[in-house]
Amino acid sequence: MRKPIIVGNWKMNKTIAEAVEFINAVDPFCHDGATYGVATSFLALNDANKAAKNLIVAAENCHFEDNGAFTGEVSVPMLEEIGVKYCIIGHSERRQMFGDTDETVNKKAKRLIKADITPIVCIGETEAQFDAGETEKVIRDQLTGSLADLCPKCVENLVIAYEPIWAIGTGKSATKEIAQNCCHIVRDQVAKMYGDECASKVRVQYGGSVKPENIKEYMAMEDIDGALIGGASLKVDSFKELIEKTR
Ligand code: G3P
Repeated sequence: MRKPIIVGNWKMNKTIAEAVEFINAVDPFCHDGATYGVATSFLALNDANKAAKNLIVAAENCHFEDNGAFTGEVSVPMLEEIGVKYCIIGHSERRQMFGDTDETVNKKAKRLIKADITPIVCIGETEAQFDAGETEKVIRDQLTGSLADLCPKCVENLVIAYEPIWAIGTGKSATKEIAQNCCHIVRDQVAKMYGDECASKVRVQYGGSVKPENIKEYMAMEDIDGALIGGASLKVDSFKELIEKTR
């Protein structure tokens, strides 16, 4: 049985004080039905992690090198030092605006796994690729590159977030059938690369305009084990509703 995992990706939102206030308000409402978490800015991570008792706290990115001349970057040992246990890598915003590639995502995944930090590996196609019928190829190619040369045991503990770029922040969420089909392709590609047992254990999230009104329909689909949520994760009431709807 795969335990559902629902993570709010706050992106470049919330100061340290706002993050802690939010966590104090939401943390007591988490329940055992799923793993709930928030991904915060690097600045808020330490305080957020200390405030969270039930929620897991994730970084939104990391560098694959341990140290060196990489102005503005944060390394995995730095995350380790403050006890962070999850880290999003390869979000489409980082791929589109900050030069992340399957190759750098793969390096980040390897470094995180070495530190026993769970990578949440994001993949997903653009609207043009979707319109051109290239979704399946994009998903398989991104996974081939991002998950190259890992061990099956490592991959089964990963979280993979399928986020079609056209559904992110647009309110134009994928239908549950499209989301299921793509998450199934994700699992199938993991099976091809690392075997059926690994594929049956890896958790696959859908992300893209998920909100309290539609989370249940995604969670009911066979290959969808959770959600990565942007906008609807920013307000306490909305997050509490997401928790309630997944009870
Ligand atoms: O990582 C989550 C995100 O990209 C989806 O954002 O606002 O469409 O839920 P949103």
